[in-house]
Amino acid sequence: MGVDEVKQLTLLKSVLLTTALVLVMAGGSSAFHDGGAGSCIACHSLHGTDIASTGGPSLLREQDTSSSCLYCHQGTGDSGPTSYHVSTPVNELPLGVPPKQLTPGGDFGWLKKSYTWSPGGESRGEQHGHNIVAADFLYSADGIHAAAPGGSYPADGLSCISCHDPHGRYRRDIGGSISTSVNPIVGSGSLASSPDPGGIGSVGVNSLLGGKGYQPKSVSGAVPFVNDPPAAVAPDDYNRSEATTQTRVAYGAGMSEWCMNCHSDYSVTMHTVVASGSGTSAAHPVGASGLLGTAIADTYNAYVKSGDLTGLSSASYLSLVPFEEGITVITTLKGRARSDDSVLSGPDATTAQVTCLTCHRAHASGWDSATRWNTKSNFIVYGGYYAPAANPEYAQGRTEAEAARAYYDRPVSMFALNQDSLCNKCHNGNY
Ligand code: HEC
Ligand code: HEC
Ligand code: HEC
Ligand code: HEC
Ligand code: HEC
Ligand code: HEC
Repeated sequence: MGVDEVKQLTLLKSVLLTTALVLVMAGGSSAFHDGGAGSCIACHSLHGTDIASTGGPSLLREQDTSSSCLYCHQGTGDSGPTSYHVSTPVNELPLGVPPKQLTPGGDFGWLKKSYTWSPGGESRGEQHGHNIVAADFLYSADGIHAAAPGGSYPADGLSCISCHDPHGRYRRDIGGSISTSVNPIVGSGSLASSPDPGGIGSVGVNSLLGGKGYQPKSVSGAVPFVNDPPAAVAPDDYNRSEATTQTRVAYGAGMSEWCMNCHSDYSVTMHTVVASGSGTSAAHPVGASGLLGTAIADTYNAYVKSGDLTGLSSASYLSLVPFEEGITVITTLKGRARSDDSVLSGPDATTAQVTCLTCHRAHASGWDSATRWNTKSNFIVYGGYYAPAANPEYAQGRTEAEAARAYYDRPVSMFALNQDSLCNKCHNGNY
């Protein structure tokens, strides 16, 4: 073949691949992975003719695994939260402007936002969540942690596929068990409208997460997972502003254990969560050892905001402080995964439990350690502002717009004029 023929063939292949990709995308938000392995050529360039860049391991179209995902999961010029997008491009994040996506896991764009304020403080971008390595999108490894705190997973190998199986092999079968190989996957199992597994087909596990034995091939030093993905269901419309109604993911059980696939020594060596003045220095109870019980469930249900304990259990749910229901029945969870405030019931004292995601977001957040609210200052609202001009320490240098976005665009008026930490949703005064 002459040089020109090679060029033509290359061009033809890109056209074919691009057309295929457009066809794949034309399905809109309806489907790509469908709970399992999506169209191979959306991620793989079979003959090394990569469309967007130099090509990575396993004949990937992009130079690394996360970039292959962000090619679809980040958009340019989104006007606001957009379906399955989980990242805002760095050039759309000038000083003072927050990331746009509001998915339950959070927008990785917060990793690009660093803050300093006076009197003396610093909150570096890399502290705001999981630093996925995605060179095409200017994300690089965490410079603070060389490995997962409380574990050994290498930070320089952290990517989307550290947590999500790119081929979505884990599936929920008809009896509720999780496997990689029984029935074909008929659709996503993550959403309120997802199909139920039946005799002929299984559904994907929550968010295509890796389960027992999962380990990306391209990461050396990764530890195979010992725990399966959690029972959890998201509302169909999960990437949205919570200015008027909340986005309720029904976390059922197993999320904390799943996080401990990489943070295995959580209860032993890491993570001192100290309520001010309590002097306690153990890791916070989670999962089965973090059952809320009557007293704490009652507090959760009554707590509306600082100084207001008039809440009712039928309307006490707060997506900034979610709990695990302590159940694995997917039909029940589906009934609670809503984004229209039709189900705001609080915790059941006998089953509900604390989870890592009570305090953290899975991807990233506007605050240090990917917490759902700012756990490092005394007030999250002061004098009626998230970011009072005279006290930059309360919002740690964020603008009002950034702090509001970090609270998923809730109006500040839903909190007290001087609102203290949301630890109080469960512990109000009892410490
Ligand atoms: C959503 C993106 C995506 C899709 C769709 C996808 N793959 Fe992959 N594939 C990957 C990534 C990322 C890797 C690298 C995995 C790793 O490092 O463990 C990979 C690796 C592979 C490997 C190499 C595994 C090894 O042992 O090194 C094969 C083979 C493969 N994919 C085949 C397929 C086939 C066949 C399909 C279609 C049914 C497909 N892939 C669809 C992203 C994808
Ligand atoms: C060709 C575009 C494309 C690529 C490449 C792609 N995705 Fe997706 N992804 C989508 C679309 C569209 C959806 C929403 C519909 C669906 O779930 O099929 C989605 C949904 C998801 C979901 C939610 C699934 C659920 O069950 O609710 C996860 C998690 C996800 N993607 C992870 C990844 C990861 C990890 C990669 C890289 C290995 C990746 N995606 C690559 C288009 C893509
Ligand atoms: C595949 C392994 C893996 C899994 C699973 C995992 N993590 Fe991590 N985590 C890491 C690594 C590696 C780091 C250190 C690199 C970094 O902070 O970016 C880290 C860091 C963190 C940090 C510190 C972030 C910061 O900004 O300093 C928090 C908080 C965290 N993880 C919470 C969680 C939670 C909650 C879950 C479950 C939803 C979870 N992790 C699941 C690997 C993992
Ligand atoms: C440390 C583990 C981890 C990493 C790394 C990670 N995810 Fe996720 N992801 C999760 C978990 C857990 C959820 C479910 C979050 C929830 O329901 O609160 C999730 C949810 C999602 C969803 C559904 C929307 C949402 O936010 O709930 C998409 C899409 C997604 N991830 C894509 C990605 C992409 C793309 C990357 C890489 C750029 C990535 N994830 C990296 C753990 C991870
Ligand atoms: C009650 C709230 C709460 C719960 C539950 C919780 N965390 Fe945290 N976590 C925090 C706070 C607050 C910080 C930041 C202060 C600190 O480092 O102690 C933090 C910090 C972290 C860090 C960063 C540590 C470092 O050295 O930078 C990791 C990793 C982490 N948490 C993982 C987890 C995992 C995994 C779980 C579940 C097994 C979990 N957390 C449960 C509140 C919580
Ligand atoms: C969803 C409810 C919930 C939230 C939110 C919550 N906790 Fe807890 N906390 C519990 C439960 C349940 C226990 C265990 C039962 C008990 O000690 O009464 C607990 C126990 C504790 C303990 C005692 C731990 C021990 O080993 O004795 C401390 C300290 C603590 N929490 C601090 C915090 C801090 C700080 C925050 C905010 C960053 C927080 N909690 C947020 C529910 C919660």
